[in-house]
Amino acid sequence: MSQTDIATLNQQFGLGSQLQFVMGAGAMPIIIISNPLASASIAMQGAHLMTWAPRKHRPVVWLSPAAKYAQGKSIRGGIPICWPWFGPHATDGKLPGHGYARTVPWEVIATRALPEGSTHLAMRLIESDASRQQWPHTTPVEMHFSVGTRLSCDLVTHNTSSAALTIGAALHTYFAVSDVGQVRIHGLGNCTYIDKVDAGKRKTQSGAIQFSQETDRIYLGSVADCLIDDLGWQRRIRVHKRGSASTVVWNPWVDKAASMGDFGPDGYRRMVCVESANAADDVVVLKAGGRHRLRVEYNVESL
Ligand code: BG6
Repeated sequence: MSQTDIATLNQQFGLGSQLQFVMGAGAMPIIIISNPLASASIAMQGAHLMTWAPRKHRPVVWLSPAAKYAQGKSIRGGIPICWPWFGPHATDGKLPGHGYARTVPWEVIATRALPEGSTHLAMRLIESDASRQQWPHTTPVEMHFSVGTRLSCDLVTHNTSSAALTIGAALHTYFAVSDVGQVRIHGLGNCTYIDKVDAGKRKTQSGAIQFSQETDRIYLGSVADCLIDDLGWQRRIRVHKRGSASTVVWNPWVDKAASMGDFGPDGYRRMVCVESANAADDVVVLKAGGRHRLRVEYNVESL
C-alpha cells in the first residue's frame, strides 16, 4: 500500500485525530485511534488489534517488543483473529495453523465517533484467489471494534454458500501482566479442559489457574466471564463473551518462547493468552444463510 492509498483512506474513513491511517513498520498500514477514553492501534493486515489502553491505565493488551512486521506473517501479541479454523486444520496439515484471517489484508467498511466518546471501526476480510484456495467457500467475515473504556470486538461470519459449514475461531488475545507468576485466572473452575501439553488428556479444572510451566489448554463449557487477576499491578481484566463456549489459556514458558523467535528475552513472563474461542467440541456448524457472532468485551477493574 502506498502513501497515496493511505491519504485516500484518511479522506474516506479518517475521523481527524480520533482515527487516522498511517504507514507502520514493514510498510503495513495501521489505524491509530485516540479518543478521550482510550487509545488503540489496529493493523489492516488481519484486522489485528495491536494495542489498547484505556486512559490512566497501563496497556491491557501485550504486544511483543520483538514482534516482526511483515506481509503474510502474524504479529506476536495483540489480538490475532484465528479463523475459519482454530489450531491445525482438521484434514490438511499443509494449511496454516489458526487459519488465514490473521495474515491477509482486510478493508475498512465504516468508522464512527460514538456519542459517549468511544470509536467504532468495522472491517471486512478481503477474499482473493489465494484465500479461496485455502477456504473454497463464500463466508464473508467482518470484525467490529468499539474502542473506549471498554474494548468490544465482534467477529461476524455469514455463510452465504448453499451448504452448512463448520467454522472454528478465536480472538487470541495476549494480555499484558506484571509477571505471569502473579496471575490468577478465575471463571474456569470445574470446566473440562484438553491439556495440549499432556497428550490432549481431558482433565477438570479445580480453582483458579496459576502458571509455573508451559500451559496450553482448551477449556470446554466456558461461558462465564474470565477474570485475569494480576496481584502485581492490583488489577483485574474482565473478559465477557457471547457466541463462544470454549476458552484457550496459553503461556509458552521459557523454551517454547525462545524457539519462537519473536517473544523477546523474558516476553513470556509479561503476557498470558486467554482466547475466547469456538474450538474443539465448540466449533460452530453454520447452516446455509446463517450468521455467527463471536462477541467479546474487555474491561479493567481494580483489585
Ligand atoms: C494457542 C495454541 O492458541 O496459540 C498454541 O493453543 C499455539 O498451541 C499458540 O502455540 C500460538 O500459535 P501461533 O501460531 O500464533 O504461534
